[in-house]
Amino acid sequence: MVARRQFLKASVLGAVAVATGKAAATATPLAIAARGVGVVRVASTWDFGVAANQAAWAILGHGGHSLDAVEAGARVPEADLKNHSVGKGGYPDRDGKVTLDASIMDADGHCGAVAALEHVTHAISVARRVMERTPHVLLAGDGALQFALEQGFEQENLLTPEAEKAWHEWLKTAHYRPQINSEVRSYGADAPAGLPGGKDNHDTIGMLALDVHGKLAGACTTSGMAWKLHGCVGDSPIIGAGLYVDGEVGGATSTGVGEEVIRNAGSFLVVELMRQGRTPTEACREAVLRVVRKQPKTANEIQVAFLAMNKDGEVGAWAIQPGFSYAVCDAKDQRALIPARSVFAT
Ligand code: GLY
Repeated sequence: MVARRQFLKASVLGAVAVATGKAAATATPLAIAARGVGVVRVASTWDFGVAANQAAWAILGHGGHSLDAVEAGARVPEADLKNHSVGKGGYPDRDGKVTLDASIMDADGHCGAVAALEHVTHAISVARRVMERTPHVLLAGDGALQFALEQGFEQENLLTPEAEKAWHEWLKTAHYRPQINSEVRSYGADAPAGLPGGKDNHDTIGMLALDVHGKLAGACTTSGMAWKLHGCVGDSPIIGAGLYVDGEVGGATSTGVGEEVIRNAGSFLVVELMRQGRTPTEACREAVLRVVRKQPKTANEIQVAFLAMNKDGEVGAWAIQPGFSYAVCDAKDQRALIPARSVFAT
């Protein structure tokens, strides 16, 4: 894990380079990345963000574009069959159907999203096609699938035997309740070796990147809450809720119980707070407190977290509950995993 001081130093160096423009004027993107100036950075939610960041870094570190980087990064957990909260292998809804939500956005307000998409692993890439090849922002359900197939995406069964087994287990009681930090239970030290963790796990990868061209982009993708009602759509495909990017200010993304994020237009709120002068950390904290204030009883029992990056590449996060971590990757450290601060203590 990167030391906080080292991370802050990298942020400051990055901000200086952006302010002076010296690095960009005197070096190629590859040289900039190699010198570790720190301007180029990607951040993702949860510990599975470390691997996703590395895929994004393979693009960013060679002078590539943030939009390509966040798409490549988001595809990593989407294809990971051991990840039961994103993409193929995600836990299904209570009818046994795996439905995916995803969104993608660039610094200029271009965005695309899919909601309740079935049978296609890489929802994030379908979202990008919606953005680039249609006049629309959001396609849902059968229409999203039809569009994806027309675009050449492969039709697959997303319900893996492992996820199906967990669903059958859940059906024995059919007790529905979102689990706090379920993502970590799948990947953390308390998960049985080689097996997924808590059967009620749900959640999301949200990813924000700043490239050597000074452009921000973000992506967010999830299979949503395990055992949700069929047709339920969370915050991840809702621009302004699960994801928002504004090149003049910064970007934000969220993870946790989507209903609470939608209720507060969470990611938009974080970006607007940064526009008013808050740091990414302060903005995330204020947005989390807004969620808590609106539903104080519910907030006690759920997790919601925000991750933000400003246009200078500074990163911050805050969560309701302890246990949320975010991965940060730049020229200095490609594997940093930082525990976020939270409203409630352990
Ligand atoms: N944050 C993902 C969801 O609530 O669907």
